[in-house]
Amino acid sequence: MTFRIALNFEDGATRFIDCNAGEKVLDAAYRNKINLPMDCSDGVCGTCKCRAEQGDYDLGDDYIDDALTAEEAEEGLVLTCQMVPSSDCVIAVPVPSSACKVKPADIAVELVAIERLSPHRVRVSIKATDAGLPAFLPGQYVNFAVPGSGGTQRSYSFSSAPGAEVATFLIRNIQGGRMGDYLGKRAATGDRLILNGPLGSFYLREPRRPMLMLAGGTGIAPILSMLEDLAAKGANGHAVRLLYGAHDAADLVEVERIEALAARIPGFTFATTCSGAGSDHPLTGHVTDHFGAADLNGGDADIYLCGPPEMVEAVRAHVASCGVTVANLYYEKFVPAQAEALAA
Ligand SMILES: Cc1cc2nc3c(=O)[nH]c(=O)nc-3n(C[C@H](O)[C@H](O)[C@H](O)COP(=O)(O)OP(=O)(O)OC[C@H]3O[C@@H](n4cnc5c(N)ncnc54)[C@H](O)[C@@H]3O)c2cc1C
Ligand code: FES
Repeated sequence: MTFRIALNFEDGATRFIDCNAGEKVLDAAYRNKINLPMDCSDGVCGTCKCRAEQGDYDLGDDYIDDALTAEEAEEGLVLTCQMVPSSDCVIAVPVPSSACKVKPADIAVELVAIERLSPHRVRVSIKATDAGLPAFLPGQYVNFAVPGSGGTQRSYSFSSAPGAEVATFLIRNIQGGRMGDYLGKRAATGDRLILNGPLGSFYLREPRRPMLMLAGGTGIAPILSMLEDLAAKGANGHAVRLLYGAHDAADLVEVERIEALAARIPGFTFATTCSGAGSDHPLTGHVTDHFGAADLNGGDADIYLCGPPEMVEAVRAHVASCGVTVANLYYEKFVPAQAEALAA
């Protein structure tokens, strides 16, 4: 038996390795040519300390308190030189991937569909060529090399569940944008695309408390991937609330899919809102107009927030103004790339 271990490095790069039953994570990583931080490998120095974000494991009993205290273990910290997984796990490694000789991989995929869902939204579907689709955690993104643009890269979050045969992305098609122009003018099914990743620290954690998900525009993409995962694996009985905002009703895409997910996730509710002036959508305004302190469960809540930078900052400020400290606020900003800076 083997377990799938996701090593999520400080810079967001993520590598998946197989760990044999009874094998220590440090040994499995080494076998996979990943040099995780370590010194003594005996549970004495604490150099290999990481955070287990998800999964079941044995901490080992051959380490000293100076290396890992009971409080640290209680918080989810682990010594990878001692830790033996008993399920798939996600481990946050507090150093950059380059320090462990890890480079996010380039993967060639095939474009299988480009669907215009609204004037400003395109759903892009890809499938594997020889190497398979990249493994990823729900919420993560990859960098696309935009075909015919001299190696320019753009980041896009998966909107599909990990492991699906066809992976999807939800892209705002910006006229005059590098990716916008490719999708609008040149893209054709059968195109070969190069992706690099997976990347990012915005991924679904083990559900331990009620979740509030806040999406602005195409920021719904990684949230959809998370919801697919919750539909498949359950939310451990916790409530999940989604607020999804866009400027125009036409850009509130994938709502039917969210309705279908609502039927599969017990305790999941959602609402959509439009911020465009004069909108006749049932809810209007920004997502911040539709939640407050009373929706934060006294702070025992995990917030997942994704959208344009201004929206993310507005929500963070709104949460801070609620006067409730939430357990976790995970967020991803869809920061527009500087074409020149990202050109190869
Ligand atoms: C981690 C991460 C994940 C992302 N995931 C997604 C995703 O899932 N879906 C998605 O649609 N986008 C996502 N983005 C944004 C995406 O990477 C691109 O920035 C965006 O698609 C524009 O690319 P482009 O090549 O079409 O335009 P560019 O060539 O980058 O820009 C062309 C012009 O449009 C302007 N511009 C770019 N973006 C915007 C904007 N949002 N509003 C107004 N003007 C803009 C630029 O300043 C420039 O003047 C993500 C960004 C990050 C950092
Ligand atoms: S490497 Fe020293 S405690 Fe793990």
